Amino acid sequence: MSQTVSITPTGAVGAEVRGVDLSALDDQLMAELRSAFAEYSVLFFREQKLAPEDHIALAESFGEINVNRFFPQVDGYPNIAEVRKEPKQKANIGGGWHTDHSYDQIPALGSMLYALQTPETGGDTLFASTCAAYDSLSDGLKDTLAGLNAVHSSRHVFGNNTNQPRELLARFNNADAAVQDAIHPVVITHPLSGRKSLYVNPGFTLRFEGWTKDESAPLLQYLYQHVGRPEHTTRLHWQVGTLAFWDNRATWHWAVNDYQGQKRLMHRITLEGESLSA
Ligand code: SIN
Repeated sequence: MSQTVSITPTGAVGAEVRGVDLSALDDQLMAELRSAFAEYSVLFFREQKLAPEDHIALAESFGEINVNRFFPQVDGYPNIAEVRKEPKQKANIGGGWHTDHSYDQIPALGSMLYALQTPETGGDTLFASTCAAYDSLSDGLKDTLAGLNAVHSSRHVFGNNTNQPRELLARFNNADAAVQDAIHPVVITHPLSGRKSLYVNPGFTLRFEGWTKDESAPLLQYLYQHVGRPEHTTRLHWQVGTLAFWDNRATWHWAVNDYQGQKRLMHRITLEGESLSA
């Protein structure tokens, strides 16, 4: 028998989905979740009990798994990346606005992040809608952005000359493999929803194609503060058993680092995406 699903939007981006056991999806539920994912860009599920095998099966029912070459893997499960912060560790993974994999020519669709251990306080994740942010720009700025491409890179984050704190570096792998540079339109048409989305982010975007870094910085900074405005965002408070499934082509995220001295442990599976176009 199919489960009775309730879907409650969480602001400009995201929706909380209740009444679903993610380890027992049928075709009808899959269709509802696919449609909700296209509409809300990030889905939040509570009180799930997922073994690594369930997490993998769930991801595979949405697409092909992308194995991130920089993240540590869960023992025995190379398809699952570990997002771990130990009590003695100061820096966290993802502690600033970014969208994953924009440095790839074919960026990953998104990720399913599952909470195994959460701090008593803090450790939330913020999400921003890059579609709502595009919609609320002026027509003049939309026209200016329409013809632009941007250059993205993994080098300054995961590479040998990274700007990341040393203790985080110890948690990343394959610095020598951080040689990806990619060019994407600044405004993409979202492959699922058809909405326009601002596809630049503070984590991985370097500059506009054909512009210097200095020339690009003021307009990029304007776009970054615009996307991050509260009316474009939502905040997820994790509990053990929460799963968030986000779309990299329609959102940014930020793992808030406000739980020093406490442990947080998540499992992340990332899905392959497709080429992006204006
Ligand atoms: C990430 O950036 O993928 C990690 C997000 C989180 O830990 O909340």
